[in-house]
Amino acid sequence: MILITGGAGYIGSHTNKALNNAGYETVVVDNLSKGYESFVKWGNFENCDFGSQDLRKVFEKYDIDGVIHFAAFSSVAESVEMPQMYFKNNYRNTLNLLKIMREFNVDKFILSSTAAVYGNPEKIPITEDQDLKPINPYGHSKFITEKALEREAEKGDFSYVSLRYFNAAGADFDCEIGELHDPETHLIPLVLDAAIGKRDSISIFGDDYDTPDGTCIRDYIHVNDLADAHIKAYEYLCEEKESNVFNLGNGEGYSVLEIIDECKKVTGNDFEVKIDERREGDPAILIADSTKIKDKLGWTPKYNLEQIIESAWKWHEKMNLIG
Ligand code: UFG
Repeated sequence: MILITGGAGYIGSHTNKALNNAGYETVVVDNLSKGYESFVKWGNFENCDFGSQDLRKVFEKYDIDGVIHFAAFSSVAESVEMPQMYFKNNYRNTLNLLKIMREFNVDKFILSSTAAVYGNPEKIPITEDQDLKPINPYGHSKFITEKALEREAEKGDFSYVSLRYFNAAGADFDCEIGELHDPETHLIPLVLDAAIGKRDSISIFGDDYDTPDGTCIRDYIHVNDLADAHIKAYEYLCEEKESNVFNLGNGEGYSVLEIIDECKKVTGNDFEVKIDERREGDPAILIADSTKIKDKLGWTPKYNLEQIIESAWKWHEKMNLIG
């Protein structure tokens, strides 16, 4: 049985579906502070905060073989406003989880890490061996969690994979689950809100970056490609019992303007685009070099930007029909 913290959230729910489709048994642990119970359509569900002592009861109830840990706060902007909250939930509560795993001899762990651990990278594309110099509390909270995992693995009888996601986007192709944040802060769903008429316009946060069109460049990766990487990482932990860190991106960068143009193309709708101030904590360019995970785990992303936005749009339309 695989325990999935945050399995009612965006990336967690897609991974839960993929794991169940691949024949794994899962139990989702989620306190529903950000996630939705309706997203847990596969496996078992326990409404529980992973940072609480109640988590022990979940380990008593199920025969857990490994943990995939998604539960975390993940907004860069919010982390700048409330750094302590990020360090407590993302770092300190993860220590609670690791402690309980030790008590129950659970030795496999996968962490949702982030490109935000790199800060302003030294070179593009980013390889895993670059210095980690996070420039916002969110990235910092994941950086120190990775360090705690390194130490835990050194103690023995424990191995982990840390997956550094670039920009997760897109939705389940069956439209059963998708991206749904409240409030929404991510670029693609906000642009699609403008395309569907829920917002009057979209604001670009800064057009004076050192990039070809002046707007920030990101590496967008389909959420199902991320889900697939978790399955491969889990199999790797079972077979190799070796700890490792991998980037997860498509290896292609798109500027904010290019994303807006692609959304206009996919939806066939036009809307107003405004230029706003830079958002604090945003690096100019983040593009992954994912060679390491391709070589080591045989993972390869299947979906391009158009498929990412098409699937996100289908989900967006469904959500807006429901209201
Ligand atoms: N952006 C806008 N206007 C908006 C929203 C976003 O211009 O209304 C810009 C941002 O400034 C950024 C880009 O669009 O340049 C992407 O922004 P997102 O908020 O969609 O994503 P981020 O790159 O800020 O963050 C994402 C994840 C983080 C993770 C980070 C790592 O949400 O958890 O990628 O790259 F840390």
